[in-house]
Amino acid sequence: QVPELENATVRMKNPECVKERISSLRREGTGKLQVISDFDMTLTRFGFNGQRCPTSHNIIDNSRAISEEGRKKLKALLHHYYPIEIDPYRTVEDKLPLMVEWWTKAHSLLSQQKILKSDIAQMVKESEVMLRDGFNTFFDQLQQGNVPLFIFSAGVGNILEEIIRQAQVYHPNVNVVSNYMDFDDDGVLRGFKSPLIHTYNKNNTVLENTEYFQQLSARTNIILLGDSMGDLTMADGVANVHHILKIGFLNDKVEEQRLKYMDAYDIVLEKDETLDVVNGILRYIL
Ligand code: C5P
Ligand code: MG
Repeated sequence: QVPELENATVRMKNPECVKERISSLRREGTGKLQVISDFDMTLTRFGFNGQRCPTSHNIIDNSRAISEEGRKKLKALLHHYYPIEIDPYRTVEDKLPLMVEWWTKAHSLLSQQKILKSDIAQMVKESEVMLRDGFNTFFDQLQQGNVPLFIFSAGVGNILEEIIRQAQVYHPNVNVVSNYMDFDDDGVLRGFKSPLIHTYNKNNTVLENTEYFQQLSARTNIILLGDSMGDLTMADGVANVHHILKIGFLNDKVEEQRLKYMDAYDIVLEKDETLDVVNGILRYIL
């Protein structure tokens, strides 16, 4: 069926169930399928050569547009809040207000930095961001199969769009919901548009444009890609889900989070920097 499922990075709690679901997705055809994916650390790499790769926020944090002082403050926020974000021993209810706090503080700091809209392309070019290996095949397969790809990200929409544009994979079947920058008439950043999307509200509460999912109401089969426990609710905007296959990248704190991820995701990819498994499944289905 899908040889990539034998890869050493693959963990499945119920392999039989996964095989059945993949068969159903293939049998019911591409006209019924849509893909819903997270962006940072799901479509982009978590690490390269032993170094962490940046999130869309980090691309701005690390750029020349930010003062030394500003960068220090943004780093301090990351060091304080990131461990909370991924802490397997804290509940979502407990984390939620803290995530709002992180995003609000970070966005406020960024908004004090006189960032120009015209800086964005260069920021992305000069950054260390990398899409996961196999990204071309992933985006191209979906485009050729006419399968819609919904990217639902708590990162920065302007940055992530620029990343996929520069990679030449921002095809017409791609739709993005994310945090967008708000610029004044001179093209200077003055804030972020609402609603604020953070790790733990990636669900119906922010999917105001459910028009998107209404238009796709015939596409009741879903492949969901994420890297966080917060990504599991990204398909909540789909009214009638027939089959859903959840694939989760487990990047960090692997031992501590393994069981939780295996309970929540049908397929867990441990420290896998590629889209090979996803591409293998798509190749079989499309
Ligand atoms: O695209 P995705 O939803 O994964 O983007 C959110 C990620 O960005 C979070 O997992 C978080 O770790 C990261 N983040 C960051 N800096 C911030 C806020 C969030 O790197 N100020
Ligand atoms: Mg992510």
